[in-house]
Amino acid sequence: MEAHISKKPKFGFLMLILTVLTLNIAFSHSPAIAQTSGEVPGQALGLNSDADLWRFIREGNSGDVSMKNELAAVMIQSEGDNWRAVRNGPISIYGAAGVLGMIFLLAIFYGWRGRIKIDSGPSGKTIERFGSIDRFAHWLMAGSFVILAITGLNLLYGRYILLPIMGPEAFSLITTAGKFAHNYLAFAFMAGLALSFLLWVRHNIPSKIDIDWIKAGGGIFVKGAHPPARKFNAGQKMIFWIVMIGGFSVSLSGIALMFPFQTAMFAKTFGLLNVIGFDLPTALTALQEQQLNQLWHGIVSLVLMTIILAHIYIGSVGMEGALDAMNSGKVDRNWAKEHHNLWVEEVDAESKSSKKPAPAE
Ligand code: HEM
Repeated sequence: MEAHISKKPKFGFLMLILTVLTLNIAFSHSPAIAQTSGEVPGQALGLNSDADLWRFIREGNSGDVSMKNELAAVMIQSEGDNWRAVRNGPISIYGAAGVLGMIFLLAIFYGWRGRIKIDSGPSGKTIERFGSIDRFAHWLMAGSFVILAITGLNLLYGRYILLPIMGPEAFSLITTAGKFAHNYLAFAFMAGLALSFLLWVRHNIPSKIDIDWIKAGGGIFVKGAHPPARKFNAGQKMIFWIVMIGGFSVSLSGIALMFPFQTAMFAKTFGLLNVIGFDLPTALTALQEQQLNQLWHGIVSLVLMTIILAHIYIGSVGMEGALDAMNSGKVDRNWAKEHHNLWVEEVDAESKSSKKPAPAE
């Protein structure tokens, strides 16, 4: 009896091993066979035609899942193909054309016009243009923008330019570091943007003299031409509003990318645009929202970079005396009179009135 009992587990154990091995061999081979021959293992046809089923899935339709997550019910999100094609196609191509085209145009302009000089020469006397808080706001916004731009360009073009030069290890290291810098410095940019808006918005309200300034091409194409301007001329006002509106929009889409699947900004915006005659889809899934956020973030930031390049040029090498405004905060009086004559008059009038002795009581 004892001998009989002791034999049984051995046989059972052997059977278990054999079963596991058989199942292992069967499962490790069947999917491969099914994939190469295009048939379901066991010759089972099922109730539905495979072609119809896969077409349904390939078209991005959603099925049913017990998880409370609409994204999990979609096996193939077909818009992903469109998203990739637009990102790696037109956005990358036109973005590069914009940035490189602007550098090319500025180089040509510099070759033709040279550095815009102070026509009457430096006076040696200065006038305060920006206080320390203005300069802090500008450099917080500008410094973070430049790093955001470089790390963002690396995400779009790095794999084509840097990866072949530096290899996968070094590229992965700098891209990971760049991604962290991009995420955290975004908040510095937003703070700088908000502060600059509060400090300068009152000087950037459009006025009649802006039209004359634009008609005169800002005087930059003709030597010695200086259309009148207050603290900011029409060109600077344009830069201000482009930076504020573009910066705000890029910040919103950036936040949506950092905290994915939480926003429905595109469905809401499309709904508003439909009121004025557009016919845009408003039933967007969380993933479609995310893809649109990413494309929009890329488009707006590339447009901003292209325009900001012109600003950086004119604020540094392009014009004598301009950088002092954001460096020491004080500019030469002759520079100020030539480029912002009405502002100099206002400042002089203010300082005269503040120096006036108080009327005797
Ligand atoms: C990194 C190089 C940069 C340089 C050398 C530079 C230089 C300057 C200078 C000299 C001014 C004062 C102009 C004046 O006195 O009227 C200024 C103003 C301004 N900057 Fe920049 N800047 C740079 C980057 C940026 C960036 C990246 C942004 C935005 C993201 C920006 C936004 C502004 C705005 C909105 C103003 C006021 C409006 C205007 O003057 O156009 N700057 N900048």
